[in-house]
Amino acid sequence: MECILAREGEQMRRSGWSRRDVINILDFSRSDLESLFELAGKISDRPNSIRRSLNEKIVATAFFEASTRTRLSFTTAALKLGGKVIDLSPEASSVMKGESLPDTVRMLESYSDLIVIRHPSEGAALLASEISESPVINGGDGSQHHPTQAMLDLFTITKLKGHIDGLNYAIVGDTRYARTAASLLYGLSKFKPKKVYLVSPESLQPRIEIKTKIDELGLRTEKLEDLEEIIPEIDVIYLTRIQKERFPDVMEYEKVRGSYEITRNLIVKAKRGSIVLHPLPRTNELPSEVDTLPNAAYMKQAEWGVPMRMAILELVIGGAKG
Ligand code: NCD
Repeated sequence: MECILAREGEQMRRSGWSRRDVINILDFSRSDLESLFELAGKISDRPNSIRRSLNEKIVATAFFEASTRTRLSFTTAALKLGGKVIDLSPEASSVMKGESLPDTVRMLESYSDLIVIRHPSEGAALLASEISESPVINGGDGSQHHPTQAMLDLFTITKLKGHIDGLNYAIVGDTRYARTAASLLYGLSKFKPKKVYLVSPESLQPRIEIKTKIDELGLRTEKLEDLEEIIPEIDVIYLTRIQKERFPDVMEYEKVRGSYEITRNLIVKAKRGSIVLHPLPRTNELPSEVDTLPNAAYMKQAEWGVPMRMAILELVIGGAKG
């Protein structure tokens, strides 16, 4: 079994993942993503067959914004692959003394084999990747990209629905500021969904640059205010938290607060076999009364963050020369 994973990992690396930065899901082809899902699937189905391919490798995590799942799933993934992890903790580092991002990245690069960075500024991960010789993974930059979350979301859909093509999607909530929604839309544009409904009040609809990009890529979308109108047709319901911290004006946030809370009574009207996803953390939009419905897949989605990040680390630095 070990050998199968080693060999397949090796072949996929040759297909273009080796030492690659992961900044924007649009940089990856459908076949890159399919290879990734295949490896993540093998790791999640056969956890005991894992090769400790990160032996001797050091992963640096640098989270300039709060995180539970992304930071800890990358940490767990690196440890399970036999790697070691160093964590910057900005609040306890020279960042507090005014050290610049480029200087911080230079240090992380010299101490580690790969950097996972999350930052409130859009473009911060791209900047880090331009400075660092070691591969950089974007764990979220402002409201712009969160590529590994979208890879996880698409992987979860593949696992639970068998495929991504031909399904109807509803992305519900803050598609304006949620980087998870933007990256998922970009990721979906690599596949052939039947239709993607963008369900939110007008002021939370995607920013113009996101809409222009997905239109250009041929993704079929439709704006809608009310999920109930279309819920019997939807295969994948993807909820997002209102990104309170990203609103330039708190009054604008107050206007939309609580504008799309779903309920158990609504989800029971959903199509048979449909799934409800959420990148988490959740606030009021997803009450815990939904958790016991068969469609609730968000906890499984979060759990699969570990095999997904193991697959990413394995493909990017597993066995590759540092
Ligand atoms: C998201 C994020 O940080 O963008 N969480 C995550 O990584 N799973 C979603 C959010 O904060 O709403």
